[in-house]
Amino acid sequence: MSKIRDKARTPAILAVALLPLLAAFRTGPRVEQKGLKPPSELALLMREMTAFTDSTRLRLERGDELLPYPAGFTAMHTATPTDGKLDIDRAAFDAFADHYLVQLKALYDAPAADRLSTFNATVQGCANCHTVACPGPLVRIKKLYVPLAPDLTK
Ligand code: HEC
Repeated sequence: MSKIRDKARTPAILAVALLPLLAAFRTGPRVEQKGLKPPSELALLMREMTAFTDSTRLRLERGDELLPYPAGFTAMHTATPTDGKLDIDRAAFDAFADHYLVQLKALYDAPAADRLSTFNATVQGCANCHTVACPGPLVRIKKLYVPLAPDLTK
């Protein structure tokens, strides 16, 4: 038994020794070939908007105050998208973006009692644009709704 194990160990040790070497060879060219480009300005802003929405959801669920108003989200209109182009018409994108920003403003203007429903309207604003412009993140976006009773978000 132990002999077999010894034999099996040699290639394993070799592999461990060679792995860092292989990794060093692969990183450079692979990044370019597979098109793993850094995220676009718009993608980075969207990640920030997602993190903001998630934190706001948790705050509302705990009854905490809203975060400072995220004025920087208006940059949606000017942030460069992946490959420099949107999958929808610029005018449609801008209309969806404005709709989202109006909902966001409404959340901050709403009396505390209406915060949950106005918050969900901001998430709906995300979903509206994504349904047309970029459906991939919809799964993630749907998890951002605050459950209301009865639960209309499912
Ligand atoms: C006006 C349209 C629009 C609105 C509103 C919008 N998005 Fe996006 N979102 C996009 C587009 C277009 C992309 C693709 C960006 C790119 O590839 O450069 C994107 C990308 C994303 C991504 C993927 C980012 C990545 O890492 O590649 C997430 C997550 C996301 N959005 C979440 C949200 C959330 C959450 C909201 C609301 C708070 C929101 N979006 C509002 C259009 C929109």
